[in-house]
Amino acid sequence: MCGIFGIVYPEEKKNLGRKLYRAAKRLVYRGYDSAGFVGIHEDGSVDLRKDAGKLEEVDNRLKLREITGKRGIVQLRWATFGVPNRNNAQPHIDCKKRLVTAHNGNVVNTPELIVELSSRGHNFKGENDGEVVCHTVEDFLNRSGNLDIAIREAYRVLKGDYAYVAADSKGDGMFAVKKGSSLFIGVGKNFICASSDLPSILQFTRKYVPLFDGEYVYFDHKKYEIRSLETGEKIERQPREYSGDIALAEKGEYPHFMIKEIKEQPLTTKTLISYITESGEALEFAQQLKKSRRIFIIGSGSSFHASLMGSYFLGRIASKFTIPVIAGEFSERFAELFEARDTYILVSQSGETKDTINVLDLLDKKGYENIYSVVNVPGSTIYMRTRNRFPIMSELEVSVAATKTFLNQVVGFAGLSLLVSQDRKGLEKLKRLPEFIKDTMEKTEPIVQQLAKEFSNWNSIYILGYGVNYSAALEGALKIKEVSYIHGEAYYSTEFKHGPLALIDEGQPVIFISSNEHCEKIISAINEVRVRKGKIISISNENPSLRLNSDIFIPIPEDGFFTTPILSVVVLQLLAYYLAVERGFNPDTPRNLSKTITVD
Ligand code: M6R
Repeated sequence: MCGIFGIVYPEEKKNLGRKLYRAAKRLVYRGYDSAGFVGIHEDGSVDLRKDAGKLEEVDNRLKLREITGKRGIVQLRWATFGVPNRNNAQPHIDCKKRLVTAHNGNVVNTPELIVELSSRGHNFKGENDGEVVCHTVEDFLNRSGNLDIAIREAYRVLKGDYAYVAADSKGDGMFAVKKGSSLFIGVGKNFICASSDLPSILQFTRKYVPLFDGEYVYFDHKKYEIRSLETGEKIERQPREYSGDIALAEKGEYPHFMIKEIKEQPLTTKTLISYITESGEALEFAQQLKKSRRIFIIGSGSSFHASLMGSYFLGRIASKFTIPVIAGEFSERFAELFEARDTYILVSQSGETKDTINVLDLLDKKGYENIYSVVNVPGSTIYMRTRNRFPIMSELEVSVAATKTFLNQVVGFAGLSLLVSQDRKGLEKLKRLPEFIKDTMEKTEPIVQQLAKEFSNWNSIYILGYGVNYSAALEGALKIKEVSYIHGEAYYSTEFKHGPLALIDEGQPVIFISSNEHCEKIISAINEVRVRKGKIISISNENPSLRLNSDIFIPIPEDGFFTTPILSVVVLQLLAYYLAVERGFNPDTPRNLSKTITVD
């Protein structure tokens, strides 16, 4: 949800634009409605170039890479306040053409502030909340003449969750502010930078410092100073060294990150499974789950689908009473119905999703202790704010569509359930899962490519599953919608006859996910569709009667309570990917979406 990056060098850089572009390339998955760069020269002159459009398009038009200067700022926008156009694009510059800012997140009192600041003579060009940040800070700067003080004053006025960078063209260095949205500092040999996420920093330096909510930092090319926005008190924090694999930020031989990340799944699941079976940490978590009377698993989007699948695993494999909840409806739905003795698992690949952070705020306010995070990004807000962490170890995921992170979330729940129930045989099977995933991809990819060709002109595809396989259907349908823009809809197979069956027409593709255990129920749902001339595609372990009842049969190499849904998701990820490619869309950056959703 918007990406910001700011950097300060000791002297003028001819290649500043190219550096900013490299940073921007790593941030595109956060927003691609507009792009803007600014270069600030030693003499205080400002070169601001921005417009609506994707980074490459704006660069072609405005030659962003040719910008020079000593300090630079980038902003990539995912529109919330104001349509994507030049005026709403960021960075913004104040009335006196002196202060430059770029923000991400949401300033919720934007309309009120526009009225108030306009009445005091500020000249607004658009409706964007980033422009409100700029004029609010300018307003306080006009009064005190001190940017540090202005930033702290503005903190009291700007409501919402956001982060921003600000530079006074007549001054030195740069400020970065964190209130609800992620922000990191990168410390290099002859520069310091700030960014909304780590990958954009890691290509320049592995030394980074996470910022926490309510903090701001002033930095120049060699030193940084973190302070509290509330009190102005100085906060000491040493840089950390990032030890992960930064090559993962490159596509390598693959045309898109999405397919690269799907193909990484045998490896990423293997890493996590070793952690589950060999580290005492996973066992400790399992022991907590075993003691717990009720378990809430909370997430949004794919992370909710993983929560749902996880609740089936914990319910059926470990006999634990588990309630999956969409993060955004937790407080509405459970109001006073949750208790300190329950266990809460917050699931989020990014660790920045606002809906999920709202739940954490609520639980923290109550002083509850049994809160666990299942997060992929170390250093993210949810990761940093929870003491009990179950890292999903998928490494960097760039494509907006969650694939390998989803898979490790559900593999994590399968592993924890098996640990709770001390199911040795199940754990042995779990260890073979990476091999099954590889096999699934090798065997089903050609079938799926063919299917994608056949279905690419359909307006909708239905996916049906019974029991735990319904959660796999939901995830598959989301992937299809998200990257191919075909309406994918998941249904509980026994529910389909209660309404949606009316939509089945000749040739309508309907995908059935079946475990051998549910085969009869699935065949009865298949019959209902078949007699209405729908096209039947089944995903299942080899099963003669299912094969006989299907137009297309996609065999997965293993059947079982956790293997069938997990392997079916892999098939559906591939289908979504090839549908997007077949229809000519870039699956890595779906329209209207962003990898991190930091607004309500
Ligand atoms: O980072 P999170 O897992 O908290 O994100 C939640 C959803 O926004 C996310 O899963 C979204 O649905 C994905 N883009 C799906 O591919």
